[in-house]
Amino acid sequence: VIVLIGFMGAGKTTVGRLLAPRLGLPFVDTDALIETRTGASVAEIFESKGEGAFREIEREVVAEVLAGPDAVVALGGGAVNDPVTCVALEWTTVVYLDAPYSESMHRIGADPGRPLLTIADPRALYEERKVSYEGLADATVDTSARAPEAIVQEVMLRLAPEEDESARFRRVVVPLADRRYEVVVGAGVLAALDSLLPPSDDAEKAFVIAHRGVVDDALNTLRAALERRGLEPHLLDPPSGEESKSLTTVEALYTELAERRAHRHDLVIGLGGGVITDVAGFVASTFNRGMPLVHVPTTLLGQVDAAIGGKTGVNLPHAKNLVGTVYQPALVICDVELLRGLPHEELRSGLAEVTKYGFIAEPSLLDFVEQRAVELLAGDADALVDVVARSAAIKAEVVAADEFETGERAILNYGHTFAHAIEQTAGYGRIRHGEAVGLGMMAAAYLARELGRIGDEVVERHRRVLDTLGLPNRAELDIDVLEPTWQHDKKYRGGVRFVLLAEIGKADYGIEAPREMVARALERLKR
Ligand SMILES: NC(=O)c1ccc[n+]([C@@H]2O[C@H](COP(=O)([O-])OP(=O)(O)OC[C@H]3O[C@@H](n4cnc5c(N)ncnc54)[C@H](O)[C@@H]3O)[C@@H](O)[C@H]2O)c1
Repeated sequence: VIVLIGFMGAGKTTVGRLLAPRLGLPFVDTDALIETRTGASVAEIFESKGEGAFREIEREVVAEVLAGPDAVVALGGGAVNDPVTCVALEWTTVVYLDAPYSESMHRIGADPGRPLLTIADPRALYEERKVSYEGLADATVDTSARAPEAIVQEVMLRLAPEEDESARFRRVVVPLADRRYEVVVGAGVLAALDSLLPPSDDAEKAFVIAHRGVVDDALNTLRAALERRGLEPHLLDPPSGEESKSLTTVEALYTELAERRAHRHDLVIGLGGGVITDVAGFVASTFNRGMPLVHVPTTLLGQVDAAIGGKTGVNLPHAKNLVGTVYQPALVICDVELLRGLPHEELRSGLAEVTKYGFIAEPSLLDFVEQRAVELLAGDADALVDVVARSAAIKAEVVAADEFETGERAILNYGHTFAHAIEQTAGYGRIRHGEAVGLGMMAAAYLARELGRIGDEVVERHRRVLDTLGLPNRAELDIDVLEPTWQHDKKYRGGVRFVLLAEIGKADYGIEAPREMVARALERLKR
């Protein structure tokens, strides 16, 4: 049993809910259990029967939970005052979620469900309990100003035995309506693939779609991990480059799968950049009407974006990604060690997508990229793990809220309406996707300025961020050339729709703009 203790507002319930599925355990919140058992809220019990009566009920419930089957338990803040409970806690693993007094108070606000907040001196209570918590804790985790995901990650690390390497990875869950999968981020994750793969009794073969000669070390690591899992590895090596993201490539892969007798429980693994994972995803979603899929992205762009969220597809001469499916992988392995040989330009291209998350959702990520640009471009593993995990978490949240892009998910296309048109008119493969996205965001910023949505300083921030990363922020683009490609845009409804910022960290989608304003934005992009 793992018990989370801490003062009101420490986040025991939030953290416990996230932690329990990671450890494969049920979650029990003792306050919630008391409320279910008694049919009254904690506040009502305090009010009608007094604190003494509540503590008696609590002692019984807690004793039962601690003696019961393994679980993650969030303990009521005052339960630690009971000597019987304290003895029982000695047999469990106790994690103290520590938060400063002011932050605890801020988090709980004026919650009427917290009866003890009405007492005269909550600070004295806080100080007194802190001493008890520290005395009982096997591990203390500082929760101040940290997102629940980061706290869960640290709790996992603290609970893991020293020799359990896999707990040292950062895990981002994509919680879809009907199932969930993990994006596992770290240095050396690929070697642990065999322990991360979801269980399957029926899979016999693993079809790895990858380019020989690009990441051969990774192929060897992958092969060994698959063999350890008892899976027979098969390598399928399609032609490379954006122009190979086509139905011709897909058909050739179908043929190989058929010839090698791929069954529907066998695994498809996409090991490569966004081109490979888009094609592998499309093939896995359609061959045998769907096969389990694992992505091992080997470009930064793939790790922060393309491999997460389930969009698969190929290009037609008319437009990029015109044919595709939404098909989620069962697991995504983001091993930053695979980025070691990645050319600088490809790292930059991936960082453009990272800044996209900063612009649409998390300004602090933008600050981080600007401050750590040199390390990131030099391939610093810690800095890369951080941006990959943070980007993956943002994408996971947006995708989970709108898997099939009926609304909100469209914000992930910030800069992409311009970018796709730029890529297509330049000719597939002539400009990197991330570079086009950078230019697309710049154009979108000028357009938002034209529409009066943002000020000059936000436009300037776009220019500066792209400059810092060595990405282009000027281009000669003509509306007459871009416009025909927009007729194929999936968001086209009687006119093209843009994703534009309202401020840094907040984007809106489905925005129409008069042609002359788009033309003016493109004019400004030339300067
Ligand atoms: N499905 C999605 O949600 C989504 C999101 C963003 C982008 N995409 C797609 O992703 C594609 C772009 O992906 P990309 O930027 O990864 O390009 P890419 O797949 O073409 O890879 C870029 C280049 O890097 C090489 N490479 C890959 N891994 C390497 C490594 N570890 N070391 C050295 N070289 C390596 C590749 O061979 C290629 O030449 C586009 O087709 C885009 O449409 C899809």
